[in-house]
Amino acid sequence: MSKTKIAPSLLAADFGNLQRDVEMVNNSEADWHHIDIMDGVFVPNISYGMPVLKAIQKHANKPLDVHLMIVDPDRYIKTFADLGASVLSVHYEACNHLHRSLQAIKAEGMKAGVAINPHTSINLLEETINDIDVVCLMSVNPGFGGQSFIENTYEKVKALKALINKKGANTLIEIDGGVTSKNAKSLVEAGADVLVAGSFVFKSDNPTETIKELKEIAE
Ligand code: DX5
Ligand code: ZN
Repeated sequence: MSKTKIAPSLLAADFGNLQRDVEMVNNSEADWHHIDIMDGVFVPNISYGMPVLKAIQKHANKPLDVHLMIVDPDRYIKTFADLGASVLSVHYEACNHLHRSLQAIKAEGMKAGVAINPHTSINLLEETINDIDVVCLMSVNPGFGGQSFIENTYEKVKALKALINKKGANTLIEIDGGVTSKNAKSLVEAGADVLVAGSFVFKSDNPTETIKELKEIAE
């Protein structure tokens, strides 16, 4: 089995030193740059939009894992493809026609991700799991960095892993929210493939070392 991927969330970066922080991720053992796009409607916060992503993309040398926390995300699938997204995740709760959205993401050459809120059952993915490249399990309520990890996530990871195996899918399980060195190992043991970490990385004294630490724990 391949090593667990680590995806630092730039939401917790110092926006006044964005180039420096993107380059820190470039030069670290991280696998993806996690990019949180919030519209102030689907979630009660606005993060950053296309011009900032364009600036990030200019300096980033690892795949861009873009997490859309916006209503009606179909409107922007082509835009995010043009901005260089490798993985584009839409929220289950924000899509009226999820299957169509997934096909549209793939048609633009990106990996198709579906994020689900803590209250959303993994059983709702039963009919689409074979079309999903990455399920982003929210382990906090989306909208803000620095929140506490919701413990029920472990059960969801196990149930999702069982569904993926039952359906013979190749879907990766990504965990987003409140990830630290304390829960990383248990998450991987439960079946996680990608760990997103924002505050734990960027608020630490040595972000590069913190990424290394997560990578080692998650091996
Ligand atoms: C939350 C975002 C997360 C967030 C994670 O809405 O989707 O990606 O940046 O931040 P931490 O690791 O601080 O919980
Ligand atoms: Zn996210």
